[in-house]
Amino acid sequence: MTSRTDQIAADFPPPRACPMHQPAEYERRRTEEPIAKTEMPGGGQAWLVTTFDDVRAALADPRLSSDRRRAGFPRYAPTIGINAAVSSGGPFGDRPLMIGLDGEEHARARRAVLGEFTVKRMRALKPRIQEIVDDHIDAMLGEGSPADLVQALSLPVPSLVICEQLGVPYADHDFFQTCTTTLLSWKSTSEQRRQGLIDLFGYIKQLCSAKEQAADPGDDLIGRQILKQREEGEVDHQGLVATALILLIAGHETTANMISLGTVALIENPDVLGRIRDDPELTPAAVEELLRFFSITGPVTSRVATSDIEIGGVTVREGEGVVALLPSANHDATVFADPATIDIDRGARHHVAFGYGAHQCLGQNLARLELQIVFDTLFRRVPDLRFAVPLEELPFKSDSTIYGLHKLPVVW
Ligand code: HEM
Repeated sequence: MTSRTDQIAADFPPPRACPMHQPAEYERRRTEEPIAKTEMPGGGQAWLVTTFDDVRAALADPRLSSDRRRAGFPRYAPTIGINAAVSSGGPFGDRPLMIGLDGEEHARARRAVLGEFTVKRMRALKPRIQEIVDDHIDAMLGEGSPADLVQALSLPVPSLVICEQLGVPYADHDFFQTCTTTLLSWKSTSEQRRQGLIDLFGYIKQLCSAKEQAADPGDDLIGRQILKQREEGEVDHQGLVATALILLIAGHETTANMISLGTVALIENPDVLGRIRDDPELTPAAVEELLRFFSITGPVTSRVATSDIEIGGVTVREGEGVVALLPSANHDATVFADPATIDIDRGARHHVAFGYGAHQCLGQNLARLELQIVFDTLFRRVPDLRFAVPLEELPFKSDSTIYGLHKLPVVW
């Protein structure tokens, strides 16, 4: 069994000089060696693709596979974890998650739930999300200053929204949030990650089985999938578990981190904050710019070549790993001038923070809506929100696959 101490001397991810900015190494690579090999934390090498155009070309290329079971897939975490969940086998489940499927198998899994994430569906969810945000701000204000914004708002809002959407009891949030943190943290040991996966899979399997056995499986995403599949024939239990699991994990942790980081950035940039407070019509543009600026999913957009291909003039051989680095692409100065500045007038909507190509984020409309509602409501209702400690003392997640904050102590 591998432990963190077995780790080889990886040069990925490179360090950040400032927690609010991308590693300087990405800029050096973009200009000096835009596609070059790097030592990965889990062992082995992968091609790091760093420019906007090359990242988009890589993510649009069907010869680059998302299948974590293939030899050569970049091992971006030091111990087993989310890749094992995404793949399959052993105690970890039976079907790869959507994010780890290719071709028609992927398209089928994605198509089945696409209708749950349309702009129209999201519009219908808006009043409920607003209510959830208001309730949590009420509770935070009721408890009084200071507060940890992560626990008071960032984590519960997307968790509760995805729970209601899926039909997962929110009462279990401590359990699934802890499992997710363990899976994504690079500090977890192999054993902790393995246990986290077994627990999370077990929980979702049980939940799906109970709904499958019920005459009325409920008017939620999992329930509607069951009803649809019953009409078409047999319920695909393994597919259902895989879909519920990816949506539960991806649906809360990512948005939670963007809420925390976005709040920090807005407090640090009072001119931007003042503009969106005066004119909430500007909030959607601010959200796009914050998504671009932080690009929190780091190495998640990894792939492995299924044949020899050329990216940006470099030949990637069959079986070699590729990391299409979104944070670097979104800071490519040839596309986003002065990329280290938060500029809500730049028109950042073509950023790749939600990925690109066949696997582009399924929940992006939901994430955008949650972020817009949270930022508008939080700073309207708590206009003098400030950090309780200096920025340098905030615990940023430099040890996780998804960037963010462990805690955000605030006062008002
Ligand atoms: C895929 C980012 C929120 C569900 C992705 C990918 C990225 C991403 C970069 C592409 C992965 C790849 O190409 O391999 C984000 C960010 C979010 C966010 C930055 C929040 C700020 C959400 C939410 C949900 C969600 C709220 C669900 C409700 C998914 C799913 C996939 C995915 C299911 C896999 C899609 C596929 O494989 O076809 N996300 N995501 N995400 N995301 Fe998100």
